[in-house]
Amino acid sequence: MKAAVLREVGKPLAIEEVSISNPGPREVLIRTVAAGVCHSDLHFIEGAYPHPLPAVLGHESAGIVEKVGADVRTVKPGDAVITCLSAFCGHCRHCVGGRISLCDGEETRRKADAPPRLTQDGGAMHQFLNLSSFAEMMLVHENACVAIRPDMPLDRAALIGCGVMTGVGSVMRTSNVRPGETVAVIGCGGVGLAAINGAAIVGAGRIIAIDMSPAKEGLAKHFGATDFICAANTDPVLAVQELTKGGVDHSFEAVGLKKTAEQAFMMIGRGGVANIIGMIPIGQTVEVPGFMFLGERRLQGSLMGSNRFPIDMPRLVDFYLAGKLKLDDLISRRIGLAQVNEAFTEMKRGEIARSVIMFDA
Ligand SMILES: NC(=O)c1ccc[n+]([C@@H]2O[C@H](COP(=O)([O-])OP(=O)(O)OC[C@H]3O[C@@H](n4cnc5c(N)ncnc54)[C@H](O)[C@@H]3O)[C@@H](O)[C@H]2O)c1
Ligand SMILES: [Zn+2]
Ligand SMILES: [Zn+2]
Repeated sequence: MKAAVLREVGKPLAIEEVSISNPGPREVLIRTVAAGVCHSDLHFIEGAYPHPLPAVLGHESAGIVEKVGADVRTVKPGDAVITCLSAFCGHCRHCVGGRISLCDGEETRRKADAPPRLTQDGGAMHQFLNLSSFAEMMLVHENACVAIRPDMPLDRAALIGCGVMTGVGSVMRTSNVRPGETVAVIGCGGVGLAAINGAAIVGAGRIIAIDMSPAKEGLAKHFGATDFICAANTDPVLAVQELTKGGVDHSFEAVGLKKTAEQAFMMIGRGGVANIIGMIPIGQTVEVPGFMFLGERRLQGSLMGSNRFPIDMPRLVDFYLAGKLKLDDLISRRIGLAQVNEAFTEMKRGEIARSVIMFDA
């Protein structure tokens, strides 16, 4: 099968032939239909986060089940599925405690001495974030995908696989935004726009979107923002403090920079919560004034929207089909696998929402 391979940090992905194994007892072989291009892939390409190489990247996808292992119970051949990198074991303290997205159980991966899921000319090819979606087929653990209703278009379903689950989940699950509360979202890419959309769905009051690119204003407002601040020419902290007379109840950082993480904290009011979604490069620290904790302000991480994806993703599909989740407008362009590097170039310009790779293209 064809797959986009990262061989060396800082180099473009190469489209290569890669072999995929047969499903083990609890594994599912999926024909990839669509894969979104998320900024997290770019962090690994640029080396801000390490990964063993060579690796097939991609982690935001939807497809059709081709084949399942003997013990698989939740999906069957022919099912439409969304994948999720939050593969969960089901019985560790995080899973049993209801926080499956924090599971770090090893058993959803193949053992080190077992044949790898992906190979090339007999050598190992590393699987990325339990998925490796930039490939015509994926071989994943049963607990890394969920079946969805067959009337859901799979290009839009793919976006739910990471960016939309992450953004909407950060609002609904991590920070538990209540109707009428105020929200600020820094970064209006795929993740930030989904957070804005999630805030609108839960009935947040003022929803303030912030981006460096003025091109994002129209998009952000379309997704539900009530206000837009262009951070290229306005101090977003001062602007948010002024608009809300003292700071928002919830802020969401969806960029991945020290500076924007610190801004996220500085723009919440007393009793507010700053949620850091962006992947801040390893080695960097985030600094905030200590006295501000006296106002019961909180600074917390949000991983994959604190999802319980087997129930959350089908609900997000229902939201889309009911017209509440604006996935049509999240797709800026549909491309073939061979154009994957162009999608990263576009992403760096900060003007588009999401590129989606279509595998029949
Ligand atoms: N925590 C998680 O589980 C999780 C999941 C998915 C993605 N992420 C991370 O979330 C971040 C956003 O991902 P994405 O795919 O939406 O990225 P993206 O590249 O599509 O969007 C980022 C946006 O931030 C804007 N931006 C850049 N610098 C800014 C600044 N100083 N102030 C305001 N806006 C600025 C850009 O113009 C762009 O619109 C990335 O760091 C990604 O790795 C985290
Ligand atoms: Zn992602
Ligand atoms: Zn677990």
